[in-house]
Amino acid sequence: MNERSRSKSKSLPPAYKGWFPWLGCAFEFGKNPLDFIAQKKELGRIFTLYVAGERLTFITDAEDFQYFFQSPFVDFQKAVQDPVLNIASVSKTSFFKYHTKIHDMVKGRLASSRLIYFSDKLCDEFRDQLTQLGKQGEGDLHHLVRKSMYAAVINNLFGKNVLPVNCEKEFEKLEEMFVMFDEQFEYGARLPSVFLKDWSSAKKYLIELFGKVVQKTADKKSDDDETLLQSLLSLVQDQYKPNYSLLLLWASLANAIPITFWTLAFILHDEKVLQKLRTELTSVFGENGQCPTITEEGLKKLQYLKWCVLESIRLRPTGIITRRVIKSFTIRDMKIPEGDMLMLSPYWAHRNEKYFPDPLMYKPERWKEADIDKNVFLDGFVAFGGGRYQCPGRWYAILEIQMYVAMFIQMFDCKLLIDSVPEPSKKHLVGTQQPEEPCPVEYRLRK
Ligand code: HEM
Repeated sequence: MNERSRSKSKSLPPAYKGWFPWLGCAFEFGKNPLDFIAQKKELGRIFTLYVAGERLTFITDAEDFQYFFQSPFVDFQKAVQDPVLNIASVSKTSFFKYHTKIHDMVKGRLASSRLIYFSDKLCDEFRDQLTQLGKQGEGDLHHLVRKSMYAAVINNLFGKNVLPVNCEKEFEKLEEMFVMFDEQFEYGARLPSVFLKDWSSAKKYLIELFGKVVQKTADKKSDDDETLLQSLLSLVQDQYKPNYSLLLLWASLANAIPITFWTLAFILHDEKVLQKLRTELTSVFGENGQCPTITEEGLKKLQYLKWCVLESIRLRPTGIITRRVIKSFTIRDMKIPEGDMLMLSPYWAHRNEKYFPDPLMYKPERWKEADIDKNVFLDGFVAFGGGRYQCPGRWYAILEIQMYVAMFIQMFDCKLLIDSVPEPSKKHLVGTQQPEEPCPVEYRLRK
C-alpha cells in the first residue's frame, strides 16, 4: 500500500475547534498566536486548530519535519499564492508563471559562491552609513540598525540610489512606509484592505515608487554588474514588475535587519561574549581597526562571530512557515487530509531541549558542533525553511549580518542602557519577532 491509500482508515490528528462555528479559535489564536500554539501542544505532537474556516495542522516534532519539507503531498506555492495576492496584488496566473523562475534566479544570484560580487560594495555601503552615525550618540538600537542597514542593503541589491536613499526626506518616508507595510504584513495577507487603511496606503506608496523605478530602468541594457532588481525586472514580463519588486524588498529586509539588531543586543548584553568577539576581531583586523575593510574571505576567519549570528537567528526565527496539503497522506498513523494548511513553527522548534540544551540561553558555543565550513547547520535548525523553496537569500543574509556586526563592534564602544535584552513581541507569526520595547544604547567611536 502506498502512503495515500493507507491514509483512508486512519484517524485525524487531535483538534481544537474553539467556541464559534467557522471562526473556530480565531480570536484566541489571533490575540497571541505563538503562545497559543505552544499551549495547544498538549493535544499531541501533531494537532489541528480550526481558524476562520481553515484547518491548520501543526507538526511539532523535528522527527516529522521531513514530511513538511519533502512530502510530494504538500505544496509551497499553493500555500503562499493567496497571501501573495493579498499582500502584493500579484494575480494567480502571474504568480504560477513566475514564482519558480524568480526563486531560482534569486537562489542563483545569491548563491554562497557568488557573494563575492556583493561583499566589497556592501562593505563600502556599511562604512558610509556607520560613519554617518558620528563620533558619539545615543538612541534606540533597533532604529539605529534599521536606518543604516536599510539604506546600505537597498543600494547593494537594488542599485545605487535606484530608490531614494540619498535624499534624507524621501528616504525617511520610504522607511516609514516600509515599516508600516512590514508591521501589518500578516494582517494584510488575511484581511480585506478596507480594514487596514494605513497598511494599504503604505503598500500603494511602495508599489507606485517601484512603478517609477521600473519605468526608469526599462531602457537600460543589462550588463555583468546587473543588480538583483535588474535581474528580476528582465525576468518578469507582465504588469506586475513593481509588485514583485516590493515582495523582493520585503524578503530582503524583513528578517535580516531585525536579526542584526538582536545579534548586537545579545552580544552587548553579555560581557563575556563581547570580549571573546573583540579578541577575535582584533586578531584579524588589529587593535587599531577603526573602520575595517571586510572581504567575504576575511569573514571566514571570524568563526566566533558566525556562531553569534547563527545563535541569534536560532532564538529569533520566523514564527511559522506553511505548506498546503494537496493529497491526503499519513504521518504516524494519522491522516492528514487534503486541503489542510500544514504549519511548522521554527520559533518553537528552536526551543526544543532535545536539539538545543538550555534552549532559552544565548550560547554561541553550541554552534561548535555544526560543520559551518561546509554550510551545514545544527540538527533541528529550520530558520530558513527547507525543501525546494528554502530561503534563497540565506547566505547573503548571514554575510550581511556578520559584516555589519563586525564593523559596528570594531568601530564603536556601545553600551545597552537597559539591564536585559528586550523581550520579543509574540504577536506576529510571519517573519522574525520585533522587540517588544525600545532598546536604548549610547555609543562612542573607539580610539
Ligand atoms: C536571517 C534572515 C532571513 C531569514 C531567517 C529568512 C527566512 C526565510 C524563510 C523561513 C523562508 C520560507 C522558506 C520555506 O517556507 O521553506 C524564506 C523565503 C524567502 N527568502 Fe528568506 N530569510 C532571510 C533573509 C533573506 C534575504 C536577505 C533574502 C534576499 C536577499 C531572502 C529572500 C527570500 C525569498 C525571495 C524567499 C521566498 C522564496 C520563494 O517564494 O520561493 N531572505 N526566507
